[in-house]
Amino acid sequence: MAKIKPILFEYDGALVPAHGITAEQISDLGPQLEAARDEVIRTDLQLFATGENIPEQKQPLDAGFHEMPERILDAYQADRANSELGRILETATRIRETVDKVVVLGIGGSYMGARALMECCCEPYFNELTRAQRGGRPRMYFEGNNVDNDWSQGLLNFLKSNSTGDGPEGKWAIVVISKSGGTLETASAFRIFLRELEELVGKENLPEYVVPVTGESGKLASLADTIGCKDRFLVPDGVGGRFSILSAVGLLPAAILGIDVVTLLEGAAAMNGQFRTEPMGSNPVMDYVAVNHLLEKERGVLTRVLSVWTKSLESTGFWYDQLLAESLGKAERGALPLTCLNSRDLHSRAQQHQEGIRDKVMNNVILDSWRCDPLAIGTSQWNEDQLNELSDKTLPNIMTAAIAGTNLAYREDNRPTTDIRLPGADEASLGQLLQMLMLATVLEGRLIGINPYGQPGVEKYKKNMNQLLREPVTT
Ligand code: PA5
Repeated sequence: MAKIKPILFEYDGALVPAHGITAEQISDLGPQLEAARDEVIRTDLQLFATGENIPEQKQPLDAGFHEMPERILDAYQADRANSELGRILETATRIRETVDKVVVLGIGGSYMGARALMECCCEPYFNELTRAQRGGRPRMYFEGNNVDNDWSQGLLNFLKSNSTGDGPEGKWAIVVISKSGGTLETASAFRIFLRELEELVGKENLPEYVVPVTGESGKLASLADTIGCKDRFLVPDGVGGRFSILSAVGLLPAAILGIDVVTLLEGAAAMNGQFRTEPMGSNPVMDYVAVNHLLEKERGVLTRVLSVWTKSLESTGFWYDQLLAESLGKAERGALPLTCLNSRDLHSRAQQHQEGIRDKVMNNVILDSWRCDPLAIGTSQWNEDQLNELSDKTLPNIMTAAIAGTNLAYREDNRPTTDIRLPGADEASLGQLLQMLMLATVLEGRLIGINPYGQPGVEKYKKNMNQLLREPVTT
């Protein structure tokens, strides 16, 4: 296993007078948090393994995400090509060699993760690069995550007018992801895009160009059988949609994009190790939960801002919005997640965060290194902007000052902040961050007695929408 540089969680900024919390409160929470950790790493995993006598308040118990990174990596070690990951990598290579564009259809947990992986680990403007500049990796587009007529049509128009020739440039493929296989947004998009794909490649070739990721059974599984899809992957039982990013749901699109999925999983496994063994103070999962939970309980801090300081992580923030909202937003409880991208949102939301209602914590996500060499301001013959005095400063220097300046302004007004520090926007860091946030969500659920799994509220709108669409039209 590659050496994984750990991500760090620092919470000095939350220990502010009057509106923050104290070190003593954190240490007092220790025994309860230890008990909740025990429940997550022992009780839940044992119940999940046997599947028997699961108490009603723990149903569903979708704890399968927890040990999934190790399970996938071990199977890959033991039986390379025949393992699930081996098959994912093989399919990814086949798709890369065959097509120049991939449309990923999926919504919620069947969408946000793949998008987060792409935006963090691929080059910016990836889809705008030539095939050679992309190293032969296909462009990737996301649909089926809405029922927006014009954006769907826009993508179809784009695919039609930009898929010419006999080589990969003339072809595109569909990866359709739905755990249930029946979500209307994804299903309707699949039907529409499949129709167009059939026109392009012919019915007999569809099995090569459609890769479903779905449950053992269901409408999409049946469709995949009928089409005869060459490759298909499972969303494992016991892994909830929003916890599925490190299954084929996220790994297949990521592997198609050439993302190093082994390192991603190793990052997640490293976070598991830290969570299981480290005491509070050096356990990012427990520390993050302690601070956020205490702020909510003691100070009424109900808005959790995930303040990401790189564009590469904005979609990771959106993925987390779903994770926290759907997991803990139950029984008229649960903090409100909000993703901010800075420094952009300093020019839109910061006024409210600095002087508005004291109901927020800023959980910063900060990169310790950038992929590219620092861009300098440099000197210019036109100094009307008076930037020559900052000519030796770089964009990373400005970002560092923006982060420190913002944190200082919050501290001066006793507004709590925390910092999650990532070594970089890369697979090892992202794997750790994703697993940290999933574990933290489950740990907090156990701490406060809310089952983090399942999303009964989401099912209600799905049922109504389907019913309304199927009602006879009365004149
Ligand atoms: O977390 C969840 O399970 C949900 O948000 C789902 O991801 C979302 O509703 C999409 O469902 P499906 O993958 O079944 O199409």
